[in-house]
Amino acid sequence: MRGKFITIEGTEGVGKTTNIQFIQNWMQAKKLPFVATREPGGTPLAEQIRDLLLSPRDELVCDTAELLLMFAGRAQHLHQVIEPSLEEGAWVLCDRFTDATYAYQGAGRNMRDDLIAELEMIVQGSLRPDLTLILDIPVELGLKRASDRSEPDRFELEQTEFFELVRNGYLKIAEQNPDRCVVIDASQPLADVQRDINIALEAFWFSSEESG
Ligand code: TMP
Repeated sequence: MRGKFITIEGTEGVGKTTNIQFIQNWMQAKKLPFVATREPGGTPLAEQIRDLLLSPRDELVCDTAELLLMFAGRAQHLHQVIEPSLEEGAWVLCDRFTDATYAYQGAGRNMRDDLIAELEMIVQGSLRPDLTLILDIPVELGLKRASDRSEPDRFELEQTEFFELVRNGYLKIAEQNPDRCVVIDASQPLADVQRDINIALEAFWFSSEESG
């Protein structure tokens, strides 16, 4: 049976890393074969593209170049890792996917959704995540949490207003895709965030067992 495709999204400082570990533990407890991966990245070529995208640079990166690089990495990642894994029956847990493109390049950089949708069609065809957990946090709080980390990357150097747009972009995606997306309040204490993630995973698990 084909595996399930789960993605995790959110703005800076929502606690993706800790919660991805929690989801991996959940999958292990369920004895599910799974692959954990990330975007941009996930293959040697796509990781090189990630470095190109995230390195701060003097040259102003034009929005179209940024968008195309995101989808170039995604094409390789899909071809080499995501599709074959799902096909073999593994679940794929991906730290960000195309919703990040709608949120960051679409809402954040003000690029047209129909343009992104065209690239999505070229690169993915009809493939979409089966479940997307959107970790949501007020921008100021997220940035405060993220500021404790090492050197900021090219995106982390953006202003608060950019992340407000990104956050609203994610909330709009959740509203438009209620069957696939679950918004988790990531400003809660970690135990409560993980309780909510567990509820979402168990509900998804139950419905996928029913249908499969
Ligand atoms: P992260 O893996 O540490 O979250 O960093 C990835 C950065 O790349 C993050 O700032 C969001 C950004 N990004 C986009 O702008 N568009 C995309 O499609 C993806 C996958 C990530």
